[in-house]
Amino acid sequence: MEISKKATNELKKEHQGIELMLRILQAVADKFERGEKVNTEHLDGILEFLSIFVDKCHHGKEEEFLFPALEDAGVLNTGGPIGVMLSEHEQGRKLVARLKDAVTSYKSGDNAIAARAYLIINEYVVLLSQHIVKENTVLFPMADAKLNVAKDAELFKAFEQLENERIGSGKHEEFHELLHRLNDKYQERR
Ligand SMILES: [Fe+2]
Ligand SMILES: [Fe+2]
Repeated sequence: MEISKKATNELKKEHQGIELMLRILQAVADKFERGEKVNTEHLDGILEFLSIFVDKCHHGKEEEFLFPALEDAGVLNTGGPIGVMLSEHEQGRKLVARLKDAVTSYKSGDNAIAARAYLIINEYVVLLSQHIVKENTVLFPMADAKLNVAKDAELFKAFEQLENERIGSGKHEEFHELLHRLNDKYQERR
């Protein structure tokens, strides 16, 4: 079995954090469905996590560095796995934008928006969970097999740089703290 390399290993670790957020999101969606109040400060934290940690950082590392390296190594973009991953990132972005709008309406007192928020979150959770499985089981093993040690080190360094530029290490810690705080709040009541 191919040993996973540093770059894909880092992305897989981030997937674990994202999966934890997906479980929190599911609990939030269930609250919306039951017509319970959802803490708007939590919703803001979740939206920030989805747009900064998931999209700008994690998807940024994949789109700007991993996917181009795989294309150079012969993996297909259009009509191939990279094209599929890119279109799923795009669908995720659109869903987060719709969720942001729904949260804005919810904050202004429109409680009828809860049903829409429930549907958007469900769609996002299904999309991202399946996306992560595809990357972990198909795309990353492909990367581990195709990219040599030097390319792997180059990617890993580019990831670190992107993260420092986009969020800084303090913010990364803050996101983990947020994850655990929300997890304590939403998982115990399930
Ligand atoms: Fe991805
Ligand atoms: Fe990913």
